[in-house]
Amino acid sequence: MPSEAYDPVLSATLAERQRIANDLHDGVASRLMMLLASLPPHGHANRQIAHGLQECLLELQMTVDGLSAECMSLGEMLGNLRYRFEPAFRRSGIAFQWQVSDLPSAARDDDCRTNHELCKIVQEALANALRHSGARHVHVRLARDGTDGADGMLALEVRDDGRGLPGSGRHEPGAARPKAGGLRNMRARAEAIGAGISIANLSPRGLRVSVTLPLERMPPAAETALASPR
Ligand SMILES: Nc1ncnc2c1ncn2[C@@H]1O[C@H](COP(=O)(O)OP(=O)(O)OP(=O)(O)O)[C@@H](O)[C@H]1O
Ligand SMILES: [Mg+2]
Repeated sequence: MPSEAYDPVLSATLAERQRIANDLHDGVASRLMMLLASLPPHGHANRQIAHGLQECLLELQMTVDGLSAECMSLGEMLGNLRYRFEPAFRRSGIAFQWQVSDLPSAARDDDCRTNHELCKIVQEALANALRHSGARHVHVRLARDGTDGADGMLALEVRDDGRGLPGSGRHEPGAARPKAGGLRNMRARAEAIGAGISIANLSPRGLRVSVTLPLERMPPAAETALASPR
């Protein structure tokens, strides 16, 4: 049987996922949004609550996006991330700069994993910048860099100008405290797709999460997709 043949089980599963996504979107997410909008902007306690609500909302929105999507290109997934995070950075008074260009159109089934892991790394780096950095600027950059053989590298970077990591200012493999999973997970995700990762403070201030992926691991650039907000 050809692989494109109608599969009733898959079709029912996707329909059910979409239904759950719609319910979450129209129910809990819009309720959280209303709560956030109704909080007075003044007072430390209110700001703390707003921050917590904002994080819950972001988490939920990303989950909904993931449920709705079968397999998106890297450009589409990054566009979603940008769309979701922009309001959160604006609310926190952090300038959010987005420089994504020349993306390979990674939409083959076997690239879904790569796209997913790359986006989860960016998501966690942005969530950390929002939550921990105290930065004034956060910058996302993705481009083809240098030449590694004929194909070059995909270079992905999330950089802020905040307080940076405490201690040595560098996250090493196996160095994460057991309770703090985000940095450790970023490293595991990069390793799982054969990417290199460095998480280290910048001088004089800030933190940079930098991921490099040999482009031979991505499909050829059949089209140039620029990630843009919806
Ligand atoms: N951009 C950043 N600026 C300053 N400190 C950071 C930044 N990112 C991470 N950190 C520091 O590194 C610690 C570990 O980050 P990590 O993402 O692993 O855990 P977490 O964000 O505290 O919890 P979670 O498991 O929910 O991600 C943070 O608690 C924070 O002290
Ligand atoms: Mg974290």
